[in-house]
Amino acid sequence: MKITYLGHASLALEINDKHIIVDPFISANELAKNIDVKSLKADYILVTHAHGDHILDVETIANNTGAVIVSNAEITAYYESKGFKTHPMNHGGSWMFDFGKVKYVNAIHSSSFPDGTYGGQPGGFVIEANEKNIYIAGDTALTYDMKLIPLRNPLDLAVLPIGDNFTMDVDDATIAAEFLNVTKVLGYHFDTFGYIKIDHEVAKQKFANKHKELILLPIGDSTQI
Ligand code: NI
Ligand code: MN
Repeated sequence: MKITYLGHASLALEINDKHIIVDPFISANELAKNIDVKSLKADYILVTHAHGDHILDVETIANNTGAVIVSNAEITAYYESKGFKTHPMNHGGSWMFDFGKVKYVNAIHSSSFPDGTYGGQPGGFVIEANEKNIYIAGDTALTYDMKLIPLRNPLDLAVLPIGDNFTMDVDDATIAAEFLNVTKVLGYHFDTFGYIKIDHEVAKQKFANKHKELILLPIGDSTQI
């Protein structure tokens, strides 16, 4: 499983020759100006919730690639009404896609589209493929529900927001890593706006103090698990 950081909370996954984009917010992200949205490959676009900083480039990528949009029922209904291909899910449910299994799980946040359309309850995704399991938290507070996730399968990586203000901060993310029983964390949802700027070295040290690794990828870089 290859995971490329596209800035903010945007990821590109390559699993079993399939391309999966998560929460694309690229074209308005000054920090991600080296990423060309039009060059992104996508078979699927996973959307955690409807906020603008997670859905900005969904339609562009779906138009370019014909990708299937996977999210909760409210978000997929919104895109289906615009003619896009979708796969609706809801909390606690899983589906075996051609690249692996995806489960939509709880997040503590809010979710409405920039035009005011209700986006349902926000979520995150657990992806199981090639005997690796990753959890992509989406925008969320620290929540005790995270303890439920590794009960099904131990995690190899958790992707957690660490920017504070809109989501949990680094300290809560270290507690989340404990709840999730995971050693490796990829941080996201930081630095994009003034409200969520963090000190990278301090953040890494806080994880190291708990014998965990915080990975902070330069935008465009990848990690393999
Ligand atoms: Ni949000
Ligand atoms: Mn956000």
